[in-house]
Amino acid sequence: MGFFIAFFTFLFYYCSMLKFNDFQLFHLDKVDSTNKVAIEKLNEYPHNFIVIADEQTSGKTTKSNIEWKSPIGNLYFSFVIKIPSQFNKFFQLISFISSLSIVEVIKAIDTNVDIKIKWPNDVLLNMKKISGILIEKYMDFAIIGIGVNIKSFPIINAKFPPTSLFDENIHIDKDEFAFLLANRLIENLNIAFDDNFTSITKQILPFMYKINQNVSLLFNNKIYSGIFIGIENNGAIKLKYNDTIQSFLSADLLKDNFI
Ligand code: BTN
Repeated sequence: MGFFIAFFTFLFYYCSMLKFNDFQLFHLDKVDSTNKVAIEKLNEYPHNFIVIADEQTSGKTTKSNIEWKSPIGNLYFSFVIKIPSQFNKFFQLISFISSLSIVEVIKAIDTNVDIKIKWPNDVLLNMKKISGILIEKYMDFAIIGIGVNIKSFPIINAKFPPTSLFDENIHIDKDEFAFLLANRLIENLNIAFDDNFTSITKQILPFMYKINQNVSLLFNNKIYSGIFIGIENNGAIKLKYNDTIQSFLSADLLKDNFI
């Protein structure tokens, strides 16, 4: 009897797990934005799928007035997944699952790399920005838009300037990277759906830039300096200062929030 219960529990769990084959792949040459294509496609195909394009003419970023430069050679990828309604409250945490998945893929290619996640979700390779993440919600779906600089990067004057994997001596084809990334996302989402998003805020800590160090955040024209001690279950950064602990949501802060 015990065996049958265990067997059927396993079968139920296994059948409800996401697998790579559950995602239809749309590989396109040139699009305006893979996220925009994903939103259009969802209207006629409301299922899980992945859009990859060789080139984008108007890649979206988190800032409405700035485009993601998208020449041939880099990865432009939108991973579309239905979020069961009981997990809607954890939507913010999908960005951590995304940055962790990028880090894991790069670490799997080269175990010795210096790779960090700058809260909330910038991935820094040798202290330079290697990717961009834009997560949008449409119907019951999350559209996880990810750009990875595989071969080239735009020249931008920033505190953490961009780089590419190629320029950091990491050689991988964009389609191979996409395959590895999709698999990491699926694996990490399976964990999150299974443990109610409890482990992701801890899993990500070893990779967090400035964890347990002093940081300053700009909030309501005031600078808050303290020790970055962790991440809340809603994705907020936890800062300890003057014997108090205060949390800040990234939406409340300026984009370049670490001073
Ligand atoms: C950012 O750093 O502000 C986020 C940039 C996200 C860029 C990617 S490229 C693939 C996907 N499609 C888009 O239009 N944007 C995202």
